[in-house]
Amino acid sequence: MLTGHEIRSKFTEYFESNSHQKLESSSLIPNNDPTLMFANAGMNQFKDNFTGKANPKNKRAVTIQKCVRAGGKHNDLENVGLTARHHTFFEMLGNFSFGDYFKAKAISLAWNFLTNELKIPKEKLYVTVHETDQEARDIWNKQEGVPLDRIFYMGDKDNFWEMGELGPCGPCSEIFYDHGEQYSDGSDISECILNDEGRYVEIWNLVFMQFEKYKDSDGTIKRRNLPKPSIDTGAGLERLLACIQGVYWNYDTDLFAPIISKVEELSSKKYDDKNYTSSMRIISDHIRAAVMLITDGVIPSNEGRGYVLRRIIRRAIRQFEELGINQVSFYKLIPSVFEKLGEEYAQNKSNIALAEKLLKLEEEKFRKTLKTGLDLIHKEISNLSPNESLSGNVAFKLYDTYGFPLDLTQIILQEKNILLNEEEFIEAMEKQKTASRASSKFSAKSDNLQDFYTIKEKYGESKFEGHSELTLGSQLLDFFDSGDHTILFFDKTPFYPEGGGQAGDSGKMKLNGQDITKIIDTQKPVDGVIAHISENFDTSHLEKGKEYQLIVDKTKREMTAKNHSATHLLQAALIEVLGKHVKQAGSSVSPDGLRFDFTHPEALKKDQLNEVETIVNNKIFEGLTVTDKIMNKDEATKKGAMALFGEKYGAEVRVLEMGEFSIELCGGTHVKDTSNIGLFKITLETSLSSGVRRIEGLTSLNALNFLNKRSRTLGDIELNLSTGSEKVLTKIISLQSDLKDKLKEIKNLKDKIQSQQAKSLFDNKTILANNIGLVTVNLENGNPKDFRSISDKFIDQNKDDILFLYAVDSNKISYLLRTDKKNKNINCSQVLKLSQDIINGRGGGRPDMVQGSGEAEKKEEFIQVLKSNIEKL
Ligand code: SER
Repeated sequence: MLTGHEIRSKFTEYFESNSHQKLESSSLIPNNDPTLMFANAGMNQFKDNFTGKANPKNKRAVTIQKCVRAGGKHNDLENVGLTARHHTFFEMLGNFSFGDYFKAKAISLAWNFLTNELKIPKEKLYVTVHETDQEARDIWNKQEGVPLDRIFYMGDKDNFWEMGELGPCGPCSEIFYDHGEQYSDGSDISECILNDEGRYVEIWNLVFMQFEKYKDSDGTIKRRNLPKPSIDTGAGLERLLACIQGVYWNYDTDLFAPIISKVEELSSKKYDDKNYTSSMRIISDHIRAAVMLITDGVIPSNEGRGYVLRRIIRRAIRQFEELGINQVSFYKLIPSVFEKLGEEYAQNKSNIALAEKLLKLEEEKFRKTLKTGLDLIHKEISNLSPNESLSGNVAFKLYDTYGFPLDLTQIILQEKNILLNEEEFIEAMEKQKTASRASSKFSAKSDNLQDFYTIKEKYGESKFEGHSELTLGSQLLDFFDSGDHTILFFDKTPFYPEGGGQAGDSGKMKLNGQDITKIIDTQKPVDGVIAHISENFDTSHLEKGKEYQLIVDKTKREMTAKNHSATHLLQAALIEVLGKHVKQAGSSVSPDGLRFDFTHPEALKKDQLNEVETIVNNKIFEGLTVTDKIMNKDEATKKGAMALFGEKYGAEVRVLEMGEFSIELCGGTHVKDTSNIGLFKITLETSLSSGVRRIEGLTSLNALNFLNKRSRTLGDIELNLSTGSEKVLTKIISLQSDLKDKLKEIKNLKDKIQSQQAKSLFDNKTILANNIGLVTVNLENGNPKDFRSISDKFIDQNKDDILFLYAVDSNKISYLLRTDKKNKNINCSQVLKLSQDIINGRGGGRPDMVQGSGEAEKKEEFIQVLKSNIEKL
């Protein structure tokens, strides 16, 4: 019986022997394609080949593509575990023709592979074609001899394939496998085939690529013909394998076996036990997706791809709970995933340490709230009356406070046949303005790459010779005006185009020693095309085909090189100090400094930072020789060269070594000897997102200037404190402590003075009728803002009398009338209400305290009226 890996090999070998070039799977994170959340089909990476924008040398290709369908147009997340053959992560076997062969050949290649290579009996197979595609039906029937009663017409819904809202598309023909009578639900074959769920399973989709959906300038989506009809096929490895291995559920193939047995071991439960089968299936699906996503560079987060990953992980963890596993364990499945995927996806496997760290971190975080969240939802469910839906606000609370993604809550509800008030959830979500997730980030951007592809087709690839030269005589091939800028292209160039985190070069373009224009940036909009960007200038004198001098700004380039080389040392030092889970998650090097983002679950401690910085500086002082060598990729991997996440490298790669300390795949420009970097200083360490840290740093003169500036500041401090640098800190600490003591002392004194003042302040007491004591205080130049605190002092000392506090500022009188809360002999609000008309006063408050202001002119009368009203009430 063939294993999964054997089928992969058989498939590739078969198509290679039919003149297809084996190409690597692209990363799960689509490269440069904002319309896609994850790679969801083998054809994604060939989009430009189909539309004619790119013109590949080899017109036939075969791949084994990593796919995730858990977000965007193709989303199978909800079906996982419930159906025999839907997955979040799966592998797609595919053969492609870019304007080469079409329907007849695609059909014969597929049929021959299934029936002759894999020896699947013909009577087990059925096919569907698009309802308008008589031609395909004839080919199946006449060319391959498939009887007409085994060929079904289907509509757009099933037999028209499109990658997403935009992109290449076309009618397709699908091949189905019959799992046998025992899986029949009695319905008609055409119905069974339609639902692709029961007895018959789709194992291969042959797409006859003929159209492209694109966004017109007015924003509407339109369809146009592709320049040449092409072929895109996709066979899900897991499904095909199930047929070959004679099992119905993909989970029962050898690809999942090691994972399931590890789950059995961790839970001490059996896969055969019906109570646990489904949980184990979901877990085994989700761990593959989670691990492959992380090792391709996706990091769990609250938006976009990271959020889909987080949802997958949290769903799986909840299934662990169902199996009675309450400990952080998900990461323990990682080795079992790579038992079957490691050989094909070695680059993912090399990131295993990172997957462990991040999965652990994610599970620890979720487990902190999981139990409380589960208790809450079970309590809410038990309080529902029959047929009542769960409130969306509860679902929101679960989401917001306990980290339950909505779909997780929904699964729990589904299992109990309870509905959710989703509208309410959305409302709550919108209230918090957290609704817009990164899916909005994946809107298609307008496509302006055509010009660059045209340049590439016309002139071929431009050569970068800037590793050895900074000045070069180059032939001007072409130029155009892009609106804001003029873009120039040469046969060869010393200008480095932005890439691998390194900023593009700037400099000058000259003719016979005369300046023509400044190059302000250099970019690589399309592989093999180097675009020199200048401010708009008069191009009427430019001559295509003529040689111009290209001069790179040497100082900037050298500073950039120092920063870039320091970044390599930094990465190696971080791995040495923190561990192998450290992976580059982004970087930026320019003449001004460097920034390096990397995976690590927590802030670096001070001594770790110091250690990293010291290691980098030691490697600078050691003067390690920097060498670069072009070698084939396998050789480089064997040498242990660090590759960037999901980065696609050609068969030949440039390996950059710094002594024996650092070895990386890199196309950037570097120093010749690490001592040229001069000096390295970390200026910032911070969190970028959960699980990702950022370090910023400076090198050479910039580092020295930074240190000098700090040193001057220290000098000023020393001078001011009249002490040497070794004692300055002790001195500051002692000054701070003195200051604290003094402040305390001042406060005590102030309090003392205030209470003494307050005592004499409140001396002026008049006894009114009914033995009511009224203390009147004229706070000359007093600020009404202080009235309240002054009256607090009065209340502290005097519980029976009434205080009338006022201050006059030009013609305005401000006042406060107050007594202790318990003193029911007076209602200050009432008194004020009756009295303040006389001064056109405005004020109010509570029965025990009122505050207000009015005209000062009649203040004496006002006080008299107040007194008499106090007596009256
Ligand atoms: N793109 C098609 C699919 O995904 C064929 O590979 O089904």
